[in-house]
Amino acid sequence: MKKTRSIILISGNGSNLDNIVNKVTSGFIDMDICMVMTDNPSAKGLKIASNHNIPTLVVNTTVGFHDKLSKVIDDNYIDLIILAGFMKILPKTITDKYDGMILNIHPSLLPKHKGLNTHNKVIESGDKYHGASVHYVTSDLDDGPIIIQSKFKVEEYDLSLLKEQVHKIEYEIFPIALKWFVDGNISKQKNKFLFNNEVLECPIEHILDY
Ligand code: GRF
Repeated sequence: MKKTRSIILISGNGSNLDNIVNKVTSGFIDMDICMVMTDNPSAKGLKIASNHNIPTLVVNTTVGFHDKLSKVIDDNYIDLIILAGFMKILPKTITDKYDGMILNIHPSLLPKHKGLNTHNKVIESGDKYHGASVHYVTSDLDDGPIIIQSKFKVEEYDLSLLKEQVHKIEYEIFPIALKWFVDGNISKQKNKFLFNNEVLECPIEHILDY
């Protein structure tokens, strides 16, 4: 079977990128990472990519972004577009064209707290639980079908602690969702999002073992 060809989009530290690269190297996810693309020339993740000999590309997202991204995806025969901390909103033309092929990691228990500053929103709302979600990307921000989620009980309303706890969850659930995509457990067929050939009615809950 043809190996899944992916592109990873990042904007910053790239710790999720690093984790995904490690899961590919260890054989957990059977895919090729063909390119790492960023809108931020100083993204730390660029170094991670080049350390692993993954081609990198810095793009300006304000002018001609659709055409540039589309060309890279098509020229490289990309099957899977991974948003791993990419802080720009993809144009609707992209989300429509590559519908069912784009996955994003979001640092909240969607549909709660879409958009930015999710940890602050959890603190302000005094939420009992916090967590992370992996979802398909559609034209509505952080609104596509949720594939997998994991949560923890908030013990301390401390920004950096929450960020750390959520990152830890992200490192578990994002590779699982990517593996499911690559292995064909999740897919979009005839306008329906499927998990193991059944309609994906609600997120799969990943229980933490710590
Ligand atoms: C993650 O928390 C992700 O959910 C959010 O941006 C953060 C990126 O972190 N979209 P990193 O760059 O992978 O360390």
